[in-house]
Amino acid sequence: MEIFKRSCGCGQVNKALLGQIITLCGWVNRRRDHGNVIFIDLRDRTGLMQVVLSEDFSADARKIAHEVRSEYVLQVTGRVVARSAETVNKELSTGEFELQGAQLIILNRAKALPFNLEDARSVEEELRLAYRYLDLRRPEVHERFKIRHKIILAMRDFLDKQGFYEIETPILTKNTAEGAREFIVPSRLHTGSFYALPQSPQVYKQLLMAGGIERYFQVARCFRDEDLRADRQPEFTQLDIEMSFIHEADIQTLIEGLLAHILKTQFNKDISLPLMRMDYTTAMRDYGSDKPDIRFGMKINDLTDLFKDTQLSFIKSILQAGGKIGALHVADYSFTRSELEGWVTRALKNGAKGLVWIRFTQEGTIEAPIAKFLPQDFMQHVKGIIHDLKPGSTIFLVAGPEKDAWTQLGRLRLQLGSALKLIPENELSLHWVVNFPLLEYDKDSKSWSSVHHPFTSPQAGWESQQPADMKARAYDIVLNGVELGGGSIRIHTPELQQKIFDYLGFHEGAMKQHFGFLLQAQELGFPPHGGIALGIDRLIMLLLKLESIREVIAFPKTQTGTDPMMQAPTVVDDSKLIDYGLKKLTIVAKKN
Ligand code: AMO
Repeated sequence: MEIFKRSCGCGQVNKALLGQIITLCGWVNRRRDHGNVIFIDLRDRTGLMQVVLSEDFSADARKIAHEVRSEYVLQVTGRVVARSAETVNKELSTGEFELQGAQLIILNRAKALPFNLEDARSVEEELRLAYRYLDLRRPEVHERFKIRHKIILAMRDFLDKQGFYEIETPILTKNTAEGAREFIVPSRLHTGSFYALPQSPQVYKQLLMAGGIERYFQVARCFRDEDLRADRQPEFTQLDIEMSFIHEADIQTLIEGLLAHILKTQFNKDISLPLMRMDYTTAMRDYGSDKPDIRFGMKINDLTDLFKDTQLSFIKSILQAGGKIGALHVADYSFTRSELEGWVTRALKNGAKGLVWIRFTQEGTIEAPIAKFLPQDFMQHVKGIIHDLKPGSTIFLVAGPEKDAWTQLGRLRLQLGSALKLIPENELSLHWVVNFPLLEYDKDSKSWSSVHHPFTSPQAGWESQQPADMKARAYDIVLNGVELGGGSIRIHTPELQQKIFDYLGFHEGAMKQHFGFLLQAQELGFPPHGGIALGIDRLIMLLLKLESIREVIAFPKTQTGTDPMMQAPTVVDDSKLIDYGLKKLTIVAKKN
């Protein structure tokens, strides 16, 4: 038999092979030496198979088996036999069989590993990432990449059937104006000039529509130099889609069908369609978030009116400045004093200016740091707004400018929901958020910027509206409180595109320099079009109920954007910097 050839995978041994001589290859998962018998659990990506080397035969193989350690790579040839009834392992697909080893070849040795694969969950992530290939050997990690592959395959299959073409767009490109900071790459041939890595294929996919492609998709790698979080990586993958001659509903129906297809084919789950469409203003008003987790209630209540005559100076001044007071209500949990203080500290850590708790006791009294400033019948007043308030209830108040206060309450709501176990972890909750504002004002730079990106079309009626009131033809899809994807109907005429650039304060020179090619294309027969992009890493993370997208990316960066395995980023030699024009060549004249 040719070396490295195997009859089947370790996990594929079955009844049909009983009595046959087969060859398996794999890693030593564990070796147990009982003196007269040596057991080796051999592992490959299909599963585990027990190899037995007994005293009765295979003397050479036993000699080698004594040498073998965990994670050695072996080729084992032997006969498949049935295990005795009392040694059957029901946990294993191959648990009824064992391989009586006759020949054993060491294909490669392994030193002691930097961490034990079976304890990897408790190992520091940095160490796991430094040896990611070892981490990948773990069956549970392995499984994630198999599912990732299947999901992407299902996406491709679904879109192919709908007439989409998969087209790759460049990685060395120019700023795509999507708001995040970009990674730049120096050009050697054009010293002093830089490419930008794409934040997404946004402009290219629009130009594909100008090229008459009509239906495009790409499993696209995107790069954003932004602060990292559990659901953000500097390099991530989108399912990027664009279509011509369509409306919002066409994209939404397509995505609903695609997600239903993935859930059905990969997880045997049904979802009820169409998904709910929630207005952006409702999302912000009730949940303090544009990606609300609606798997649990605890909506934000507006208590501003109850405080209009308050003597509390800090609230008075907030209300005088046009601010508001929002409240979260917890009915069925009795907080201890130190827990309440803990929530105040947490809110401050979240960035809130303060958090006031008010507890309505079973005896009908009120406990709160501001209790003496509250009227006798305060509970009745609150009940007028929070109808299910009852003795034992606690409310948490945040006061401030509306957007800030509601955002803080939104964050606190999620933390309370998680701490009080109010979130049904096994539920999949998908919905759309629609009717976003087109633009937002930044007080610091005193300028308008796009809520999505500058290519998003405004909704009808924008001509007669103030910038703050203009709505976008944009839609986000939310899964369990995470923004899974976002898209919009685009601008396809140069006049409108130019107007939006004007609002964004791009002067003519900058506009021509950055987007001259787009405006030009819009003058040469650009079809109406729109699209969306879904975060593939986020989708898989959520479907597999994992905490971080790093778990579903083969070689992710750490929270600080480094690759501990390759040790990237690295310092570059001066000679290279000189080649790229990033450092000047200094010639020191020698004195004679
Ligand atoms: P957007 O910026 O909303 O839209 O991105 C779309 C989706 O990509 C995912 N995503 C990320 N995933 C991991 N790490 C990141 N740093 C990261 N940033 C974004 C999210 C997000 O919803 N060009 C537009 C799409 C369009 O208009 O068609 C775009 O990129 O899941």
